[in-house]
Amino acid sequence: MARLDPHSYNDSSQPEVAHLDWHAVVDFATHRLACEARLTFGRPVSGALDLDTRELEIESVLGSDGEPVPYQLHEAEAILGARLRLELPAGTEAVRIRYRTSREASALKWLTPLDAKPFLFSQCQAIHARSVVPIQDTPRIRIRYRAELTVPKELRGLMAAALVRRDESPGDGGGAVEVWEMPQPIPPYLFAFAVGELASRELGPRSRVWAEPAVLERAAWEFAEVDQMLTTAEGLFGAYDWDRFDLLVMPQAFPYGGMENPRLTFLTPTLIAGDRSLVSVVAHELAHSWTGNLVSNASAEHFWLNEGFTVFAERRIVEAIYGADVCALQAALGRRDLDDALRRFEKLPELTKLETRLEGIDPDESFSEVPYEKGYLFLRTIEEAVGRDAFSAFLKRYVSTFRFSAITTADFAALVEEALPGVLAKVGGEEWMHAPGVPANAPAPRSQRLEALERIGARVPTEAEARTFTPTEWQLYLEALPHPAERALVDELDRRFQLTRSTNYEVLVSWLQLAVESGYDPALPRVEEVLGRVGRMKYLKPLYVTLAKGPATRALATRCYNRFRDAYHPIAQQVIESILN
Ligand code: BES
Ligand code: ZN
Repeated sequence: MARLDPHSYNDSSQPEVAHLDWHAVVDFATHRLACEARLTFGRPVSGALDLDTRELEIESVLGSDGEPVPYQLHEAEAILGARLRLELPAGTEAVRIRYRTSREASALKWLTPLDAKPFLFSQCQAIHARSVVPIQDTPRIRIRYRAELTVPKELRGLMAAALVRRDESPGDGGGAVEVWEMPQPIPPYLFAFAVGELASRELGPRSRVWAEPAVLERAAWEFAEVDQMLTTAEGLFGAYDWDRFDLLVMPQAFPYGGMENPRLTFLTPTLIAGDRSLVSVVAHELAHSWTGNLVSNASAEHFWLNEGFTVFAERRIVEAIYGADVCALQAALGRRDLDDALRRFEKLPELTKLETRLEGIDPDESFSEVPYEKGYLFLRTIEEAVGRDAFSAFLKRYVSTFRFSAITTADFAALVEEALPGVLAKVGGEEWMHAPGVPANAPAPRSQRLEALERIGARVPTEAEARTFTPTEWQLYLEALPHPAERALVDELDRRFQLTRSTNYEVLVSWLQLAVESGYDPALPRVEEVLGRVGRMKYLKPLYVTLAKGPATRALATRCYNRFRDAYHPIAQQVIESILN
């Protein structure tokens, strides 16, 4: 027996599930899904089959012949959840598992406000698919699926899949039944759906945006450039394999900036800044269509292969559409985030490696900018050593070699060695992939705007200088100030530039962190407002960390959390609780 993924009970000597036929009835009254999962193997199999589950209530397991299949649901472990072991009789081609999800399913957020339409959505990455479907929840095993989702008639379901049909007059209970199909095989973490009051607008021949009606128009304007991004990305990586690239603007409770669910990227509503300044997140999720969704990390230990490649591609897209200066500013901000993460992980050097050992570590807890930005810098280092043309050719070869599979850091290194012999030794690839910290040969982003910013340093910018600042430049400026800053400086910045009123969440959160650390109390009501409105962890985490650090503001952090907890996604709740304890 071999357990190759530390976050799954999957045993690589056992049969692999190839197809899922999923039936789920969405019940907003109980916050539970009543489900049937039919797992098929594509050939007759037998013997033990270990599936991942989390808080599933198993009702029955039947074999191809309709006879009960013996099973045992083991005691749950803290990170992995509960192993469901089936004993498959000889000749089993499929099993049918009837079960219900828990009210506390870690992937699901149920929103049932009294004054608005309900909403439900999933977030399965990294290891939450098991709280929705009993499955081999490891990216090493891809599945195709067909799903039948029963939803309240007045709502619409969306899946990261292709809609086959919606039937509004089925016999039982008066719900609408939607049939979805995912013909391309996906790792389970890309299983995704949402149910709510949703409307759509076309953005291009392959894309539309979905959102709640109140934000639809603004969303369509913000993301209008998506087709141009798609064309640029195809130039970088080859043809787009997933037919459509639609966007779904989520409720505020969505815990991430974006999630690359195939055919239907999920986006936080905080991207709708009114000036298209945050659309690099769309470029990022789009790039995952190749790096992540076609070529997947074999486990969370190789997460940098998903995110480092995707940040690299995202910045290539940004450079092509918005210019080299914009790209360099974003890379500079990335470097700053990376240095912050390295400082945070000073006592956990394992988490500053690209390839990590994560046995006994929850991927939601170890999440950081390291795989993103250190991964990006590693690829840039190789690119600079071999030249852009050679590296672009390598990117295409990487995708075509590994498409629809899951790979490790060693698989990546072997292909680099084959395609670009000698380059790993030349750039110190071993150190990059396997040592903590950032090697000294990491390239530094350079641009004229960056130099102009450095010249301003820690003084208050003039009105003329500030007028030309993009949100990224404001962020770079604010984050370069000493933390805490002189109270007089903070006062003057807010008086001159109304930063507490900023509506760009990137700028606002950088400012609020500085303000709280500098003891600038007039910002506290705004901090509270943000914590009560936004569910994106990228903003919640630094604000809660900053409040919790200060003896004077720690009580405020706890008070806010107790007040707003129910509005946060279960994944965010868990992460914030570990900050506050
Ligand atoms: N796949 C990630 C989000 C994710 C990572 C969810 C790990 C669960 C576990 C997504 O592509 C991402 O990286 N989002 C970033 C966007 C940014 C880097 C442009 C985010 O949410 O901030
Ligand atoms: Zn990503």
